[in-house]
Amino acid sequence: MNEQQKQSLYDNAKRWVLEAGEHIRTKMHQPLVIETKSNPDDLVTEMDQDTEKFFAEKIRESYPDHKVLGEEGFGDDVKDLDGVTWIVDPIDGTMNFVHQKQNFAISVGIFKDGIGEIGFIYDVMKDCLYHAKRNEGAYKNDQLLPALANSIPLEEAIIGLNSTWAVPNKKVDENGIHRLIRKVRGTRSYGSAALEFAYIAEGIMDSYITMRLAPWDIAAGIVLVHEVGGKVTKANGEPINMLDKQSILASNASIHKEISMNYISFK
Ligand code: IPD
Ligand code: CA
Ligand code: CA
Ligand code: CA
Repeated sequence: MNEQQKQSLYDNAKRWVLEAGEHIRTKMHQPLVIETKSNPDDLVTEMDQDTEKFFAEKIRESYPDHKVLGEEGFGDDVKDLDGVTWIVDPIDGTMNFVHQKQNFAISVGIFKDGIGEIGFIYDVMKDCLYHAKRNEGAYKNDQLLPALANSIPLEEAIIGLNSTWAVPNKKVDENGIHRLIRKVRGTRSYGSAALEFAYIAEGIMDSYITMRLAPWDIAAGIVLVHEVGGKVTKANGEPINMLDKQSILASNASIHKEISMNYISFK
């Protein structure tokens, strides 16, 4: 992909993200059809589905040779990341969308041969767009986000953490998580993985730890966090597989290893 092709891909993606967000805002107060998926708390609405359909149609119309990997099943059965793949979460934070009518995002990551090239995280109700191109910096609207601080003590860090991992659970040793909670300055839980990545990129949160995310939750966020010098791996420090669900540790690089080595152990 040359610079011109990358710019035009970016421009189209940005236009579609803003258009999808505008559509959601205009329909925000209409009654919603809400269904559940894997369990009673796993919600999906017709807005999640319609928004993913919108992206899949736009992408297929303009880029028939690109692949689409999406949460709601309107994409392709993606088996590898050869060529260009759009990784789309039409609404990240569906529970917030349903219950709060805010604090959700559209997340679109564009990968070429497995490498994250472009990322958009759009906080729809705040009309706030986080965006990045690889090697060209990350932005919040028109503002370039500075590189993350070189060194922060873990005692002064704010970490994003879902309470699920602090109570007895099947995946991670909650005692390590308790020690981490006592060590850091504070914890937050925003209910949208994409926004938590955006906040790390913005430097207003220092780490985000969770035990099971899908590629669409993290694709755009990875591009953003890398651009400001942050690190994203599985919670044990291993590299991420963009075709699989996995644990995630996204952080300011200076505390990444310390968290994964000293505070996270799997059952
Ligand atoms: C969810 C949100 C949530 C995270 C869940 C995700 P969805 O995505 O990002 O914050 O804790 O693991 O599945 O289903 O609202 O797109
Ligand atoms: Ca979902
Ligand atoms: Ca999601
Ligand atoms: Ca979603």
